[in-house]
Amino acid sequence: SWTSESFVDSTIRDLKFRLGNDKVVMALSGGVDSTVAATLIHRAIGDNLYCIFVDNGLLRKNEFESVLASYENMGLNIKGVDAKEQFYTALKGLTDPEAKRKAIGKTFIDVFDHEAHLLSDVKWLGQGTIYPDVIESVSVKGPSATIKSHHNVGGLPDFMKLKVVEPLNTLFKDEVRAVGSVLGISPNILKRHPFPGPGLAIRILGEVTAQKVAVLQQVDDLFIGGLRRDNLYEEVWQAGAMLLPVQSVGVMGDERTYENVVALRAVTSIDGMTADWAHLPYSFLADVSNEIINKVRGVNRVVYDISSKPPATIEWE
Ligand code: XMP
Repeated sequence: SWTSESFVDSTIRDLKFRLGNDKVVMALSGGVDSTVAATLIHRAIGDNLYCIFVDNGLLRKNEFESVLASYENMGLNIKGVDAKEQFYTALKGLTDPEAKRKAIGKTFIDVFDHEAHLLSDVKWLGQGTIYPDVIESVSVKGPSATIKSHHNVGGLPDFMKLKVVEPLNTLFKDEVRAVGSVLGISPNILKRHPFPGPGLAIRILGEVTAQKVAVLQQVDDLFIGGLRRDNLYEEVWQAGAMLLPVQSVGVMGDERTYENVVALRAVTSIDGMTADWAHLPYSFLADVSNEIINKVRGVNRVVYDISSKPPATIEWE
């Protein structure tokens, strides 16, 4: 029968056999899947696994620094790459959600490809693909099926010609978490909410700029920090804030303000395919709304999204 322990043992044994003394390159995202996959491969081949963690400038506040530090603490052979400006440049002038996704995907491949070429003699590409990603990338073929282009799977430039190693491609998310826990990965990473590859870019409706990212990072940090403080973080499946391209009138002291609106979104879900809006306590919403409006310059109104998926989606873009 399947146990996480037996999966870990047999997978490490198989990886040792398959990979031998070959070098593997792998991009890490800070998420559960890539972290667990990298840890398994690292257990098998040690520093022949070269991990790359890209700062796309679209991560949560302080996320790049803190995740990079935990990877280093875990003993992974990891290189952090600051590519913020490259991503902001690629996003300049783009407002269409799919165009933004494509620009981010392409820039990511450029950055990763450049980094991979700095290593000599790499034979394999490691990936954190899990079973639902495999299913989704097979089924996302028809025009109507491509609701949003996910680029977690594939997307390799042809000339790299690397063989792919995906130790988690038979597992579901809960099994990945169980395996991660056997591997001693911190609950901080294992219990983390899902976060989209294009990051805050698809939570800033319209054009993305470094200034808007900075505003949204503060809002998101207050929202997520509040959820943690009030022990609500683990009650919801995913949460985040959207910066709307809408200004509204407000009043501060004797002054009339005309500033941005943010929408908070928190959902309960099993797998992200369907979702219900999380019925967060009014007192929590009241506190976090006050905190955001008082602390974040440029935001004078907070709304809470009470749409379910379907027909709405989790993200707004
Ligand atoms: P939606 O908005 O489609 O989101 O209800 C379902 C889940 O997928 C995430 N998501 C993405 N993840 N690249 C990703 O890696 C994307 O382009 C993307 N779009 C949405 C979303 O955060 C949610 O967890």
